[in-house]
Amino acid sequence: MATKTPLHVTVTGAAGQIGYALLFRIASGQLLGEDQPVVLRLLEIEPAMGALEGVVMELDDCAFPLLAGIEATSDLATAFDGTSWALLVGSVPRKAGMERGDLLSVNGGIFKPQGRAVAENAASDVRVLVVGNPCNTNCLIARSNASEVPADRWFAMTRLDENRAKSQLANKAGVQVASVTNLAIWGNHSATQFPDFANARIGGKAAGDVIPDDEWLHGDFLTTVQKRGAAIIEARGASSAASAANAAIDTVVSLRTATAPGDWTSVAVASSGEYGTPEGLQFGFPVVADGAGGWSVAEGVEHDDFAAERIALTTEELVAERKDVGELGLLP
Ligand code: NAD
Ligand code: LMR
Repeated sequence: MATKTPLHVTVTGAAGQIGYALLFRIASGQLLGEDQPVVLRLLEIEPAMGALEGVVMELDDCAFPLLAGIEATSDLATAFDGTSWALLVGSVPRKAGMERGDLLSVNGGIFKPQGRAVAENAASDVRVLVVGNPCNTNCLIARSNASEVPADRWFAMTRLDENRAKSQLANKAGVQVASVTNLAIWGNHSATQFPDFANARIGGKAAGDVIPDDEWLHGDFLTTVQKRGAAIIEARGASSAASAANAAIDTVVSLRTATAPGDWTSVAVASSGEYGTPEGLQFGFPVVADGAGGWSVAEGVEHDDFAAERIALTTEELVAERKDVGELGLLP
């Protein structure tokens, strides 16, 4: 029997595909731990409230022992009231032929009022993970409009890319995926991201020593990870959902628990200028969590010219996105 005080978890876009793959896992204890009761605060837009009602019925019907309450709402203040973790999923997914950045003008406007609502209503320990695309710059918009909430509480999701990259390396090497570590996604959750194979390790050895196929690492590996989201849209006719929900859970768990010594996890955080990145961008880095809610960007990671060029490209894209949303009036 759980005795802890329930924590409030907000999920936006709760009646969507990712929401459906996410909520039941949160309610079963996979997000915050098997002894931590949760209250789900579910945000949707008015037209989706009927569908959300059905999801709430299903949550009820699971009789999850850790689910201490459900609030389904289309009101921002109610959705973020007292929340400790806000998972910002709600937004429009891209269709085949689009890049994620094409969604900025459609989705960007969602994140300004949501940032304000987090600042005005959330718990003092709130942490925010942005999943809705383009997630780095949407997170930048929300964070910039919520200056009361410290910058280190805002995250955008690059963990799905990390998981994809690890699986590609494990398959190629013929090993279990758990033996792949130190896989960092640098920059934007977009086709310019840099999945850093050069610093990845397989069974403790440099990935390039275990997979002595430079052409594949610099070519197919890279593009497969960069374009995996598009490949799934092409194959499924809809964007990734279960794997995205899984990556959201992985992100939160990895931020809550101490990172294994020597390893790191991938998440986009507010840059303080690490590795020469412009300050303030929401930038994918290798991150080490201390297990007490704190984190830092892993230090001393070295890049060759190839990696440096790729990281420069993804940096330029994020700088351009920041400029665009500034011109759209989404930054204060
Ligand atoms: P979906 O269309 O199935 O669901 C989105 C839901 O958001 C819908 O129910 C919609 O009603 C709701 N919504 C729209 N505007 C809203 C608003 N202002 N407030 C609250 N809810 C709102 O889409 P999905 O497949 O669940 O994907 C959601 C987002 O996640 C997309 O932007 C997608 O591109 C992104 N995504 C990101 C990653 C990642 O790795 N970062 C991975 C997969 C998908
Ligand atoms: C993904 O990486 O699967 C998501 O960001 C969805 C998309 O548009 O690619």
